[in-house]
Amino acid sequence: VVFSWCSVKNTSKQVPPIYSIIPHPQELVKNPNFFLLNNQTSIYSDSTLKKSTKQLIKLIKKEYDISLNHSTSIKKENCIILANSNNKKNDYYELNISEKLITINASSEVGYFYASQTIFQLLDHNNLNKSQNFKLPALKINDWSKFKHRGMLLDCCRHFFSVSTIKKYLRLMSYYKMNILHWHLTEDQGWRIAIDKYPNLITKGAYRNENNKIYGDYYSKSEMKEVVEYAKSLNINIIPEIELPGHSQAAIAAYPHLSCTGETYEVANDWGVFKEIYCAGNDSVFTFLEDVLNEVIEIFPYEYIHIGGDEAPKYRWENCKKCQKRIKQNNLKDEHELQSYFIKRISKFLKSKGKSIIGWDEILEGGLAKNAIVQSWRGTKGGIEAAKSGNKAIMSPTSHAYFDYSIKTTDLEKVYSFRPIPNELNKNERKLIIGGECNVWTEHINNEEELDSKVFPRLLAMAEVLWTNENESDFEGFKKRLQNHYPILKIKEVDYGIEVLPCKIDVERKNEKLNIKLIKGSNELELKYKWGNTTNYIKYSEDSVIENNSGELFVQTFKNGNKYGDIISQPFKFHKAVAKT
Ligand code: ACM
Ligand code: ZN
Repeated sequence: VVFSWCSVKNTSKQVPPIYSIIPHPQELVKNPNFFLLNNQTSIYSDSTLKKSTKQLIKLIKKEYDISLNHSTSIKKENCIILANSNNKKNDYYELNISEKLITINASSEVGYFYASQTIFQLLDHNNLNKSQNFKLPALKINDWSKFKHRGMLLDCCRHFFSVSTIKKYLRLMSYYKMNILHWHLTEDQGWRIAIDKYPNLITKGAYRNENNKIYGDYYSKSEMKEVVEYAKSLNINIIPEIELPGHSQAAIAAYPHLSCTGETYEVANDWGVFKEIYCAGNDSVFTFLEDVLNEVIEIFPYEYIHIGGDEAPKYRWENCKKCQKRIKQNNLKDEHELQSYFIKRISKFLKSKGKSIIGWDEILEGGLAKNAIVQSWRGTKGGIEAAKSGNKAIMSPTSHAYFDYSIKTTDLEKVYSFRPIPNELNKNERKLIIGGECNVWTEHINNEEELDSKVFPRLLAMAEVLWTNENESDFEGFKKRLQNHYPILKIKEVDYGIEVLPCKIDVERKNEKLNIKLIKGSNELELKYKWGNTTNYIKYSEDSVIENNSGELFVQTFKNGNKYGDIISQPFKFHKAVAKT
């Protein structure tokens, strides 16, 4: 009897519990045993928590097809109990899982929502082989977020992404406790938001001529409202970005009177920064923008509107009579102050509608609008300057937060090392850094697959940076937890990319030969190489030297026996000048 009892115990221990929550909870204590969630599990809550309770029942039914029994009394076993907490930290929740009970305490609906996301990750990781009982490892969590603003920018102008892709991203963001989608909707290369009063914005402004093919699309008002509602159900706010005064060539193509010259332009069909920007001297430009923003406000209820403000070349303004007149009449010093005038005028208008603006760090030039939030992208100095002048800032420096950049410059560890609060700030200034965003510009991201491979797994690192990380952090621990997310991402149809540049090739001249070393990007990777197209791949053993003097080297990297990243090829040609001064 004893023997069989032992063997049962051992069987249940064969699959150890997985606690790979990302972002990592602020406090986590692991306990032995599992709670088993099933159709007999009941849920009890105080009557003040009806909404959160209903929400949890609905989500568990939808995600795991388990029907929880709403109970009017606390059960001693197999019961989930929701209760209030008065902890005032951001997004606070406590989650206590024992063999018999789950208790969730939170101080807001959002707290319960995030507790449920934590539960879902635990369910997903510990139940890859589904049965009638879903295992949840026992633990105790106290959790809250470090930053209030945990965002991702998605550029839907350079390339368009469907409502279904946006919804997939919203689901994934909420799973990783991100709460802001910064939706980049207007650009030189395409205007994507339907505005009733100005139909040309979509009939003309949404389409560009790309190698004699028409590329373009737009979101109808009902689609955008649907996205906003969907995001709200996932505790995500949407910040629309309506770019001004620059990045506006698509609008100018639709309505030529908006530019300084009044000439006809095409929607841009290549990448870069363009000199056609809104005329700052023409009042009808402000009428247009106010009309547009009035309709934008109707769609997007969140308190912030992003007005861009970046990369506006001043060439047209310098040569425009109306712009120069505006400078004189308002005693402005130069075109930078004219840009500041432009932004402040829009900011004042939006304030009258109960909205505040966010702008890229260029809005500091020529004087910052009161209450404007600065999004620092050209490094962190814009955010520092904003905080030092008492304005809030969002950090998304190109150094760590640009997910359109290749893995070569911005690998997973680099993203994970991001610390949004610059050391230069004092205690009060630090509070003005409200969070960060990863920016996904899509000039070179053509479709959802490519988007997935750029955003994942880096988004998980950013999520942890913004939710959990203080100065110290444990990249190796994060990486270990991350490995358990790949099967889940696969189930969620995410075509995730790589963590690190798979391999670097190091070359030295040794007499009349080249000594080539392959340096793998990370310990767990394996390399194979071959010369030319004729031979088979050979396993590369660490630190060995490949001697050769010409031909083409191909390297394929492997992780857990699977191909990792693309084949790298490098032609070599030996000659007298190689490695000589
Ligand atoms: C930006 O990347 N131009 C904000
Ligand atoms: Zn002008």
